[in-house]
Order: sequence, then structure tokens, then C-alpha cells
Amino acid sequence: MNLSQNNFKHILEVKKLLIIGGTRFVGRNLLEKLIHNHPHYSVTLFNRGITNPHLFPEINKIFGDRKNIEDISKIATTFWDCIIDISGYWPDALEQQLNIHKGNFDKYIYISTCSHYVFHPNHPHLIHEDEPTVTCTEEEKHSEGLQYYNQKKAECERILLETIDNLIILRPGLIIGKYDSTDRLYYWLHKVFSQEKILLAEACKNAISFTYVADLVNIITYFIENTGKHKIYNASSYKAAIEDFVQMSITTLDKQPALIYATHSFLEEHQVEEWVDLPLCLNGTYLTVNSMRLWNELPFRPSSLEQSFAQMIDFYTQERCWETPNVTPPAMTADREKQLLEKF
Ligand SMILES: NC(=O)c1ccc[n+]([C@@H]2O[C@H](COP(=O)([O-])OP(=O)(O)OC[C@H]3O[C@@H](n4cnc5c(N)ncnc54)[C@H](OP(=O)(O)O)[C@@H]3O)[C@@H](O)[C@H]2O)c1
Repeated sequence: MNLSQNNFKHILEVKKLLIIGGTRFVGRNLLEKLIHNHPHYSVTLFNRGITNPHLFPEINKIFGDRKNIEDISKIATTFWDCIIDISGYWPDALEQQLNIHKGNFDKYIYISTCSHYVFHPNHPHLIHEDEPTVTCTEEEKHSEGLQYYNQKKAECERILLETIDNLIILRPGLIIGKYDSTDRLYYWLHKVFSQEKILLAEACKNAISFTYVADLVNIITYFIENTGKHKIYNASSYKAAIEDFVQMSITTLDKQPALIYATHSFLEEHQVEEWVDLPLCLNGTYLTVNSMRLWNELPFRPSSLEQSFAQMIDFYTQERCWETPNVTPPAMTADREKQLLEKF
């Protein structure tokens, strides 16, 4: 075959991608990128058709529940060049799926998490990929729903590592950005936008590892085309504290709210749970990872905090129009915050 025949062959080889999930947050961002920048891929979505079913009418969709063996059979007979698994939370379902698939794919990219490490709250350090992840008991493994999230994500990784050679496991930090359906970061930006007094926790000063969703999408698209030197990568963009986002919002939105910081003991006394009631405020600095393995290997850099923040402010201004956040899991109500602020 001469060079021009070779090029022609390359053009004819359309990569077939299967995305399991794809319509809420990470997947939605990924789909937008693939449609705009990689129209030569043949993309198929597999999900139940419950979350945002109106999105991506031009994309081939197969509907089914990944926990249901008959539904999963619908994707098992086709050969996929790459499966991108964004909604893998259930080890039993994953085992069943891989059993049916029996290697009917070339590459598997799994979106995991970095919250499944065995953290050392008293000796915080930037955790690297070779450190242990949490164990998963039989009861946890077989449990339904999203309980035991970290244990089940860790177990899904172990199953994949035992079964698949051409595998990329990405472990993002706390993911933020456009279409974040949890509204946890937006809670804080919206507070600055709309309130004269804001209750924060001292813990809002603690940094954690964040992954900007646009970076994660770029990382996934890189690995669709390229082989990794490793199978597992931490995938965070930067470390930041909620206080950083609050301060940047104050400057960008030109607001001057009074910031009232509550101590951990005050919050405990009033049964306020950091992280949930005051989203993303972690009472410790242990949720931080080292992502240098990834960034040393990729030909591009992660977004800076400032760059990603500016894009998020644009999104919340233009597309969300500063509507009231709908935080998942539910954060403290405005009334409760008011009651607590009266104590200062
Ligand atoms: N958010 C964070 O801060 C964070 C941090 C670290 C890692 N992660 C990981 O990042 C991923 C992010 O998820 P995302 O919600 O943004 O992904 P997404 O792919 O945008 O949305 C989730 C998709 O999964 C589908 N789905 C849910 N249950 C299903 C089932 N039983 N069978 C088939 N499809 C199902 C949903 O569609 P239907 O409902 O229509 O089925 C939806 O399309 C997760 O793997 C999470 O563990 C998240």
C-alpha cells in the first residue's frame, strides 16, 4: 500500500465510541466537545433516557439500564474502538457487563474519583496514584444506589484492572464547571451575588483538589487517540479553597458582603455539617492529590484557577442568569443561615 492509499484508509477508519452515560455534567461537556471538534467520530450513547433526554438529538442512542443484563446485551454485540464509562458506580453491574462484552472493544476509559483513597487526615500530603484505595466489603459491593460511593468506585477500578489491558482510569478531584448539576460551587458564587452577609466555615479556608470539567474533557479526548504510559492517572486541575472562589467572586461581581466565619465547634454545637450544609467546606486538608504523572505526559496544561473561574462566572451569568441554586445534596436553607448569623 502506498502513502496516499494509507491516508485514504485512515480517512475511512471512523472511530466508533460508546459513551455510557453522557447527558448530565461530564458527559454533556464531553459530547459538546466531540460534536464540535471531532465530528469524524461515530458516537453512540447508552443510558436510560431519563436524564436530559432532549439533548443531542443528532447522536445515536441506545436506551437501557446498565444494571440490567438484557439491556446491557444491546451494546455487547457491536465492536467499539473505545468505551468511555462515565456512569460506573456498581461493581456487580460492571462485572456482568464485562462478562457479556468479552473483549468486544479496543480501549476502555473509566471515570473514577480521587475521593476513594485511604486518606490520612493527620498527615495530609498530595496523594499519588500508587497509594491504597479503600476496600469494599461484599455487602458494600452488592449495595444498590449511590451509598458506599468510594468503596464501589474503588472496587470498579479493581475489576477493570483485572480484566482489561487497554485501560485508562482517570481519577478527578472535585469536578466543577458548566452544567455541574450539584450546584455546590454555584451555592457560594450565588451567595456573593445575592446576599449582604454570608455564613462561612473556618473550613472554607482549606484547599482541596478541583478538576475543571473542560480539562477533564480534554484529557478524555486525548486518551481516545493516544496510549497512556500508565493505566491510572490522578486528574486534578488545581488546589483551591472555597474562600478563594468567594474572594474572586467579590472582586469579579463587585460586591461587598460581610463574611462571617464560624468555627468547627460552633457548627458542631448547632448541628451544621460542613461539606453538606456548607458545600465543599472540608474540615481538613487531606483531599488533595498529586496529578503530575498526568500533566508530565500530556502535551497541554490544565486551566488556571482564574481562567476557569472567569468561564464559570460567564456560564452562571449568561445561562443560569443567577437563578436560585438547587444544591445536591441539599445545603443549609437561607432561613437557617439567617438564624445562625444572628448569633454573631
Ligand atoms: N461530581 C464530582 O465532583 C465528581 C468527582 C470525581 C469523580 N466524579 C465521577 O465523574 C462521573 C460524573 O458523572 P456525570 O453525572 O457528570 O456523568 P454524565 O455521563 O454526564 O451523566 C450521568 C449519565 O449516566 C446515566 N445513567 C445513570 N444511571 C444509569 C444506569 N443505571 N444505566 C445507564 N445509564 C445511567 C444518566 O442517564 P439516565 O439517567 O438517562 O440513565 C446520565 O446520562 C461519575 O462517574 C462520578 O463518579 C464526579
